[in-house]
Amino acid sequence: MAVFKTMATLALAATTASGKWIVPGARWYDTDGNIFNAHAGGLAVDRDSGRFFWFGEHKTEEREEGGGIACYSSEDLATWESHGLCLEPVEGHEYISPDNVIQRPKVQYSEADKKYHMWWHADDSKYSLLLQGHATSDTIQGPYTFDKAVAPLGNWSQDFGLFTDFKDGRSYALYSNGDTVEGRDNYLTVFNEELTDLDEVVYRWPKFDLEAPTIIQTEKSYYALMSHKTGYRPNNVVAFRADKLEGPWSQPFMVSPAYTRTFSTQSGFSWRIEGTKRTTYLYMADQWDLNSIWESRNVWLPMEIDDRKGTLDVLWHDIFDLDVKTGVWKPVKGKEYFAAKHAKLSGDAYLQEANFANFGRIATGIYGNESKATFEVQGAGADQWVSFYHQNIDDMGFGDQPMGQPDRINGTWQIRRISSVIVNGDEDNVHTLYQKDTHKGVILSTPLKLPLKKGKNTITVGGLDNGFDVKGADLDKLVVYPPEPKKRGKGHHPHTG
Ligand SMILES: *[C@@H]1O[C@H](CO)[C@@H](O)[C@H](O)[C@H]1NC(C)=O
Ligand SMILES: *[C@@H]1O[C@H](CO)[C@@H](O)[C@H](O)[C@H]1NC(C)=O
Ligand SMILES: *[C@@H]1O[C@H](CO)[C@@H](O)[C@H](O)[C@H]1NC(C)=O
Repeated sequence: MAVFKTMATLALAATTASGKWIVPGARWYDTDGNIFNAHAGGLAVDRDSGRFFWFGEHKTEEREEGGGIACYSSEDLATWESHGLCLEPVEGHEYISPDNVIQRPKVQYSEADKKYHMWWHADDSKYSLLLQGHATSDTIQGPYTFDKAVAPLGNWSQDFGLFTDFKDGRSYALYSNGDTVEGRDNYLTVFNEELTDLDEVVYRWPKFDLEAPTIIQTEKSYYALMSHKTGYRPNNVVAFRADKLEGPWSQPFMVSPAYTRTFSTQSGFSWRIEGTKRTTYLYMADQWDLNSIWESRNVWLPMEIDDRKGTLDVLWHDIFDLDVKTGVWKPVKGKEYFAAKHAKLSGDAYLQEANFANFGRIATGIYGNESKATFEVQGAGADQWVSFYHQNIDDMGFGDQPMGQPDRINGTWQIRRISSVIVNGDEDNVHTLYQKDTHKGVILSTPLKLPLKKGKNTITVGGLDNGFDVKGADLDKLVVYPPEPKKRGKGHHPHTG
């Protein structure tokens, strides 16, 4: 029981009712107003303060790899304070130079040697090393000191995950082992107590060719989530269930509605919140943007798990209110405005029959400055989240093609369209809305925070240049959310010991 239980208890003591919302796929900012820049990350808990720490890859427009590991801390998983880089790249270093790949970091505390251990996928830019990197620190926020990069039990390692069993505190490395014909397995390997090395392989998923692994544990089961290998293009994440880590593991099954490509995300981490009222499971994923990896978004969503049926579903909500103390989360309710009922269309934009859309029609032909959709909505006189439900069928049409292909003749992978969003005719403040590709007939949403007046507002959606064209995605509806409540109070410091 030891390690994890203690930490979980501390985590609960440190937190307060959230009053803060989690907005998956939005641009997140830290408490200094900078972009939350920590991709393919993992969560850990400071055993002294009980604060949550998130570790992820730091990416910039100039440097998408080798930017080191950024860390942030939070009491509520919604408000994040930056601690800068807790593993800095070192010029000329064999494994952590800016030319290296330093991916998917995970941190865990070892009771046996009283240190925090960071492990990650360590590589060169060609992915020819396939190693696991290791660094340690006496404090959770670092700085972490590089120790080594190793081949786990003499084998290859690519996407790295780390799982700690809350029943016995043992930690495990999860990794895919590369793209060669001999590889393409996924490993679950137990760490020694000190977390300084791997002991032995506990299970191997043979030849599924999956990546981005994470395990979530319930009282009865383990669920291993992994994505298919389609680079930075999202696909349908699958899960396996087992009573024991050694298996037998179930057949893989999808964790989200088919063709949503797991809401345009890739798995990577998950977290169990054992609250005072309920236990909540979070799916913590990346919404990569192939055209600008550095500004990819984080998507955290609740998972619904039914151990009797052996099912796990990632649930989409535009916004949910999570109380990390009680474990209770609630979707936030907004007001819907449908394109088919409430939009005024200009230029060549028009409503087209679409049996999958609300009222059987979707607004299409949104293009540049001339062909737009304007919605009249009610505001509350605040910055408010507005979710735009779209279809963008420049899709990747995964078929037999491992990497997919554009499914229109001579199509070009666009990955996303970009719309301009103008509030109350204020053309000096154009908001940019990224609209990921979707399968045909699949509608997904993206949130934007917009300054709304009290009473009537107009929201006008046009098309912006995405490097290929100035098309906006097809629009089904907008949902306008109430203003975010003020934080309900400051967290008190936990008792330790
Ligand atoms: C390395 O991985 C491959 C593929 O999973 C496996 O067949 C082989 O036995 C492993 N080698 C060692 C030394 O574990
Ligand atoms: C839209 O208008 C802006 C200025 O108002 C202009 O710079 C831009 O080129 C226009 N874009 C298109 C696609 O017409
Ligand atoms: C395909 O698209 C490219 C770039 O958009 C264009 O240059 C080319 O002429 C197109 N080919 C055909 C056969 O339409």
